Amino acid sequence: MKTTLRTHTCGELNASNINQKVTLCGWIQKIRNLGGMTFIDLRDRYGITQLAFNAETNPELCKQIEPFGREWVIQVTGTVAERYSKNKNIPTGDIEILAKSINVLNESITPPFTIEDESDGGDEIRMKYRYLDLRRNPVKNNLLFRHKLSIAIRNYMNNIGFVEIETPMLVSSTPEGARDFVVPSRLSHGEFYALPQSPQTFKQLLMVAGFDRYFQIVKCFRDEDLRADRQPEFTQIDCEMSFVSQEDILQTFEGLIKYIFKETKGMDIGTIERITWHDAMKYYGSDKPDARFGMRFVELNDVLQHRDFKVFNEAELVVGIVAKGCAHYSRKQIDSLTEFVKRPQVGATGLVHIQCQEGGNYKSSVDKFYNQEDLAAVAKKCGAEEGDLILIMAGPRLKTQKQLCELRLEMGRQLGLRKAGEYKLLWVVDFPLLEWDEETQRYYAMHHPFTAPKPEHEAMLETHPGEVNANAYDLVINGTEVGGGSIRIHDKNLQKRMFKALGFSEEEAQKQFGFLMNAFQYGAPPHGGLAFGFDRMCSVLSDADSIRDFIAFPKNNAARDMMLNAPTPISDAQLKELGLK
Ligand code: AMO
Repeated sequence: MKTTLRTHTCGELNASNINQKVTLCGWIQKIRNLGGMTFIDLRDRYGITQLAFNAETNPELCKQIEPFGREWVIQVTGTVAERYSKNKNIPTGDIEILAKSINVLNESITPPFTIEDESDGGDEIRMKYRYLDLRRNPVKNNLLFRHKLSIAIRNYMNNIGFVEIETPMLVSSTPEGARDFVVPSRLSHGEFYALPQSPQTFKQLLMVAGFDRYFQIVKCFRDEDLRADRQPEFTQIDCEMSFVSQEDILQTFEGLIKYIFKETKGMDIGTIERITWHDAMKYYGSDKPDARFGMRFVELNDVLQHRDFKVFNEAELVVGIVAKGCAHYSRKQIDSLTEFVKRPQVGATGLVHIQCQEGGNYKSSVDKFYNQEDLAAVAKKCGAEEGDLILIMAGPRLKTQKQLCELRLEMGRQLGLRKAGEYKLLWVVDFPLLEWDEETQRYYAMHHPFTAPKPEHEAMLETHPGEVNANAYDLVINGTEVGGGSIRIHDKNLQKRMFKALGFSEEEAQKQFGFLMNAFQYGAPPHGGLAFGFDRMCSVLSDADSIRDFIAFPKNNAARDMMLNAPTPISDAQLKELGLK
């Protein structure tokens, strides 16, 4: 890393460099004045090197460094020497630089938080001074990891014939999917571009154009409510292939995922298991199950709806999970689980429990309605053993499944079953094509309107639209949806039928997606693809909770850039120019 300003970086010198004259540049991490000796830890991207200043042999230099403070940028020239007390924790820990001269490249005011692995700065302040946060090892390493991953992916994709093609960022708004971010047009007042939610339609057009294997590491924009795994601008690894079946796509990208795990974690993940969407919902209450642990759902309608307990009798679904070895839970612990499911975020009305106690005794919160035999039948059905705790919820099917899913994840967390460093990958397949929305009384595409129904279900599109399954799939890792895609409709007439099922008039469909349907008249090949959430992939592979940590300049929960303080108002003149005033 030699440049005109430095001979080495702060991360590369070791015992083999002893006696060499070197020049380093970097930021002052720490100054320790021990009287006779002063030590400075000099930091750059590559590491930390200790500089030593002897007050006796070099009083002038010691005087010069007196005013120095944290984060000053200095250039130091000196000789590499063996350290008296070595630091085994860092690669440069065997040596130090006996400084001969110092040049201040820039001073720094005191940073608002410590630039240490464990900083004293809260989230907001670190976001505001993100460039300082990025100097910290954990954040810096996340971005280096992201870089490594993107290079690995580009190489892999290139090697199997994928071409990276950029698609436009100023596109048109579509009502499907999430809310768009829009950009007013100066040249056409009253008209707006939208920032792309994904390059979906463009990649399909690239297939019509014959590119056959496309990918792009690309920014996407969605004006959604934020969560730990969502940002308004995020990055996809977007991919599309022609002349393929669903199986080809799953195989191709299983290859990529295996390669990524090998490259970044040295892990062989083997074959990725598959589960149908229906089974995922039935056994985990989620289309993105955390399959690192079992605790599968057991449906209990048949063994619990024969007594006088109205809550169960009137429920569409009675469903339970078994928490192994938790029969000893105290009243307080069980109450806290009940409170957990009653929180508005979960929204359940209650929780029934059965403690499978020693000697085949059962103690439950519904002892009034069920005798020991009844409870034994439930335990048998659940596969519960002595010492286990059965937790049961009841209500409308989908709602109850989702609520029990939250409880399952919470129990998994409490019992330490969601282990960091363990990875469970799943392809969730056979998604329903359409999803009914009560509020607007219409179907929405579960994935997007270009997803193909399973050929054997095509005929039901008009008669039983809710029962049509799609050739659509998601990749789920440890309960996070890391990617998703589908085989596309490439037939103009089928696409028309799909728009109709979604309640679009021909005119509306033509207006919004006419460009695609027109293109399909010119020989669209059968095609399909998927997109991975790149930020999510980084965070999941690193066992991190938030994707923010892997984005150089992320937005906060209110979608604000704390550093720029964006969004900001714009001037009247700008508003007028854009025809907005
Ligand atoms: P989908 O909408 O499922 O599919 O998105 C693909 C993947 O992108 C990631 N993702 C996000 N990551 C961070 N913040 C967000 N707000 C966000 N939204 C989505 C997820 C998700 O699995 N065009 C289709 C793909 C296709 O059919 O080929 C699409 O965008 O990891």
